Amino acid sequence: MIGLTLERKEFARRRKSLMRQMDENSVAILFTAPVRMRNRDVEYAFRPDSDFYYLTGFPEPEAVMVLVPGRPEGEYLLFVRERDLAKEVWNGRRAGLEGACADYGADDAFPIGDIDDIVPGLIENRDRVFYAMGVYPEVDQQVMGWVSRVRSRARAGVSVPGEFVALDQLVHEMRLIKSAGELRLMRRAAEVTAAAHLRAMQVARPGMTEYQVEAELVHAFMSGGCRASAYAPIVGSGENGVILHYTENRDPLRDGDLLLIDAGAEYEYYAADITRTFPVNGRFTSPQRGLYELVLEAQEAAIAKVRPGNHWNEPHEAAVAVITRGLVDLGLLKGRVPRLVKEEAYKPFYMHRTGHWLGMDVHDVGDYKVDGEWRVLEPGMTMTVEPGLYVAPGARGVPRRWWGIGIRIEDDVLVTRDGCEVLTRAVPKTVADIEAVMASAGAVASERKHLPREG
Ligand code: GLY
Ligand code: MN
Ligand code: MN
Repeated sequence: MIGLTLERKEFARRRKSLMRQMDENSVAILFTAPVRMRNRDVEYAFRPDSDFYYLTGFPEPEAVMVLVPGRPEGEYLLFVRERDLAKEVWNGRRAGLEGACADYGADDAFPIGDIDDIVPGLIENRDRVFYAMGVYPEVDQQVMGWVSRVRSRARAGVSVPGEFVALDQLVHEMRLIKSAGELRLMRRAAEVTAAAHLRAMQVARPGMTEYQVEAELVHAFMSGGCRASAYAPIVGSGENGVILHYTENRDPLRDGDLLLIDAGAEYEYYAADITRTFPVNGRFTSPQRGLYELVLEAQEAAIAKVRPGNHWNEPHEAAVAVITRGLVDLGLLKGRVPRLVKEEAYKPFYMHRTGHWLGMDVHDVGDYKVDGEWRVLEPGMTMTVEPGLYVAPGARGVPRRWWGIGIRIEDDVLVTRDGCEVLTRAVPKTVADIEAVMASAGAVASERKHLPREG
């Protein structure tokens, strides 16, 4: 498979578009993410801040972007680590000042170590600073220090910016609508993730541990060209499936249990997010099947509501209506459906929402309400649709046969001009398809077992 990336000019278009939206005589300042320590001397893998990467394409830590619209010497400035051959031997290559301009399109680049001396001069006499406040509290202080520096020069006739404006609001609105280039990357993330889930279905069997299934997923992500997971994979068997963000993934898979896998790859900083739930031994029991088919029906009803002109909450409302009616049919709830929906009687079994925006962040940015009303869906928006049902072990008033069953089915959906496209449809999700895939994988596995050993 060939690698895909975004063209440099897409990043330039984004910066231009942002600068057009900024008021006159303003500056934008954006930090990348800090490096975080895992334990002594060991860092977590660095991942750039999504907003920062969206506007710069610059992947290194310790970097700051400053946009100064109308600055004659250049509007797009990057502060980066300087080249340092000794440090590069230990910690890897750096673009340096030259690379920041030549490879990442900066008009001007400066050493990150000089930022405190340079930025005050860039913000003096500007009216507004666009800055994402409180995102990285450790750097808020630094920015306030720059403002104090400018203020201390007031007697020299320098004016201090009078307003701070939330930069992230503007960038997040831009990120909400995906371009053709972004969709190519999201399709790739979806494709690789779909193949990984299929693989997990084919290899899972009683006696394996949850983390061994996780190993298969991660192997498929990386073999497919995705360097990282978009979030910690959830591989929960049996009662672990009712813990929404279970990530210990330590237990053995038991015959007769379901396995819930929520895992997604990140491709070029774009996420996929798929959940499938299937029986460890390849055959659903009758109660598992009853709940599973209800979640699937809810998911299909929700997906049918993903179309331009519908509002954000319509898929959720559709899922809740199906789930509530189904819980009544199965005897888990009693009463009239409209009233149960109104009272949110489904919540002990379905306590999360039906989806979220998806993009560079798995829970992507963009407001869900605009002026107090649910946002209307538009082509180019990408979201998940992921209803579930979770019956706590020992749930009061619930017959024992349902206890400890956790099911979620999650797909990634693009709003198109006339409806939607399910980007992750390649992973089986009907009972019949799942059982067929697992039966043929099981047949292959048992044939292998009967082959004579080599040597
Ligand atoms: N993987 C997190 C979620 O589904 O929202
Ligand atoms: Mn999700
Ligand atoms: Mn998920």
